[in-house]
Amino acid sequence: MVSRQQLQNLARQHGTPLFVVDHEVLRENYLEFRKKLPRVQAYYAVKANSDPAIIRTFYDAGASFDVASIEEFRLVYENIKSLPDKARQDFIWNQIIYAHPVKDNQTLKELDPYKPLVVFDNQAEIDKIKRYAPHAGLILRIKVLNTGAVVELSSKFGASPSEAVDLIEAAFQAGLVVEGLSFHVGSQCTNFQNYVLALNLMAEIFQEAWDRGHPQMKILDIGGGFPVRYDNQVQPFDQLAELLNTELDRLFPRGLEIVAEPGRFLVATAGTLVATVIGKAIRDGKQCYYIDDGVYHTFSGIIFDHISYEIKAFTEGPTQISAVFGPTCDALDTVSLAAALPDLELGDLVYSENIGAYSHASSTYFNGFPPAKVVHVNQS
Ligand SMILES: Cc1ncc(COP(=O)(O)O)c(C=O)c1O
Repeated sequence: MVSRQQLQNLARQHGTPLFVVDHEVLRENYLEFRKKLPRVQAYYAVKANSDPAIIRTFYDAGASFDVASIEEFRLVYENIKSLPDKARQDFIWNQIIYAHPVKDNQTLKELDPYKPLVVFDNQAEIDKIKRYAPHAGLILRIKVLNTGAVVELSSKFGASPSEAVDLIEAAFQAGLVVEGLSFHVGSQCTNFQNYVLALNLMAEIFQEAWDRGHPQMKILDIGGGFPVRYDNQVQPFDQLAELLNTELDRLFPRGLEIVAEPGRFLVATAGTLVATVIGKAIRDGKQCYYIDDGVYHTFSGIIFDHISYEIKAFTEGPTQISAVFGPTCDALDTVSLAAALPDLELGDLVYSENIGAYSHASSTYFNGFPPAKVVHVNQS
């Protein structure tokens, strides 16, 4: 765990904005997930943070990978490219899933030689896969309730439960093999009932598919959504794990392979952002600070991921509710309107913890300001 002193030293050494990734925390998160969900193989959802060093650490820890673009596939492939042919192909079969339900033709063509596992949720996708990636194995994504999740995904993806078996039949008729089912309860899903309802639904669809003579279906992918404790309102992971283990054992035979695609859970707590106060003003009686990172950069999760981050100071003193703005010329670039901060001087450092997921990954170069520099600590 990186100390406050280390953060300040790193900022002095490298400058700010600085995105600090603690690989010890990455390894701990992965181990916690595996330990608490012993039946579940963890496929790191690369989109949460696709930094090659993060992928490498998870690879070394034995993780599998959820990729959702050909570029993410290539990033994972970098780690296995020098393995002997059979070991490399086994890794692709057993430890990579292409989890985006909609793929362009070129991506399918590029994936096909690797005989990957790919997700689909509609007839047009079956037609494309048959034509451009006939060697792929298929996973059907089902739409499930995302109620109470911070990031809703079900309006964009997932076959409705009523069309599930027809799509399975259509894929088999097209000469493809459906190997299982997946779902996503929504990201930062604090409503654990979503998982319970989804698992019960999956058990019904599996049963119907097996009854119709499709024993090839043997993988259940329970997606992502595992919430991070950004605050104490979020119930501990232990509670969710206990619930999931009970339901998985109750509903599914031992032989069923169970996998998950955790993104946020594995990386959020490993990332800390350090920024510098570059301006200050009193506006309408309120203390306002301008820092050198904002919503077009590492704080992009405020917009895209609907998460708010606490801004902390390294100095002590009586606090007042302050506004914190990013460096660009846009007023949307507002990091917080209610940060409790002591009186800060120009040049002082501030930091935000638990900012490792969906943050640096969606950073832009808007207004000429580049993404924060990244430093990796505790890299084995
Ligand atoms: C298909 C899929 N799998 C996994 C994830 C990762 O979800 P989370 O970060 O909530 O674990 C996402 C996130 O959008 C996703 O779309």
